Amino acid sequence: MGDEARFPEPAELDSHGPARVVAMCNQKGGVGKTTSTINLAAALAEYGRRVLIVDFDPQGAASVGLGVNAHEMETTIYNLLMTPRLDVREVIVKTDVPGLDVVPANIDLSAAEVQLVNEVAREQALARVLRPIMDEYDLIIIDCQPSLGLLTVNALTAAHGVVIPLEAEFFALRGVALLVETIDKVRDRLNPKLKIDGILATMVDTRTLHSREVLERLKEAFGDTVYETQIRRTVKFPDASVATEPITTYAPNHAGAKAYRQLAREMISRGDVA
Ligand SMILES: Nc1ncnc2c1ncn2[C@@H]1O[C@H](COP(=O)(O)OP(=O)(O)OP(=O)(O)O)[C@@H](O)[C@H]1O
Ligand SMILES: [Mg+2]
Repeated sequence: MGDEARFPEPAELDSHGPARVVAMCNQKGGVGKTTSTINLAAALAEYGRRVLIVDFDPQGAASVGLGVNAHEMETTIYNLLMTPRLDVREVIVKTDVPGLDVVPANIDLSAAEVQLVNEVAREQALARVLRPIMDEYDLIIIDCQPSLGLLTVNALTAAHGVVIPLEAEFFALRGVALLVETIDKVRDRLNPKLKIDGILATMVDTRTLHSREVLERLKEAFGDTVYETQIRRTVKFPDASVATEPITTYAPNHAGAKAYRQLAREMISRGDVA
């Protein structure tokens, strides 16, 4: 069966919202969180979904990867967290991909972790920021930083679901228990609706036995939570980020673009996205 046939072409939407909020989360660095955020979002936008990316990493990689010059911006997600009067619509930037917007971040966000500690309802700051725009998007994806600190707890508190990208290598499995523990705590104490939507194997090299063993172990441990769609390792992803574009526009016919479109269809067919 061809990849296109595996998950059906999604029906068009004739209205938008309310948004489902997904945290792209793994405290391990460099596992493909930002790459998956950008390319999944762009693929869903191609399917007519209205998508907002919240860049929630002081490195600002999601903003930069979409051609948004966040480093020179005065108002970013940081100001939204710290200034309740400020409307998120004043900070949202449209990208070159129709239907895809971003709330940018830059290094200012690194101060929020410390400053939020003394706030009332410090874990709910991001949820409050997003509340006014829930009806305007079908999906909001939060690109988390590689940590399990207060910012990530804010993302998990604002989210309905978590997508966990995992590099297909043995050591990648080690940190997952701690991440799942954190998700369980947030569900118990702050956000009863939170669920793990799926585990996404990234940087898969199907030619090596090693990758195949890791994928089998993932399925043993997490069953159907593991997405059928896998993202192969290819230099086209770093190439696309240098070009500050999603792979879906940079190399629309490349296997990497097709993989993220398939992930978009898989998520829609699972009911995790409208
Ligand atoms: N499938 C892939 N094949 C090859 N390279 C990839 C793939 N996915 C991501 N990369 C590259 O690996 C690096 C890390 O990816 P990315 O920035 O998406 O990870 P991250 O989890 O967001 O990292 P961080 O924890 O630092 O935020 C980037 O240079 C990216 O271009
Ligand atoms: Mg990142």
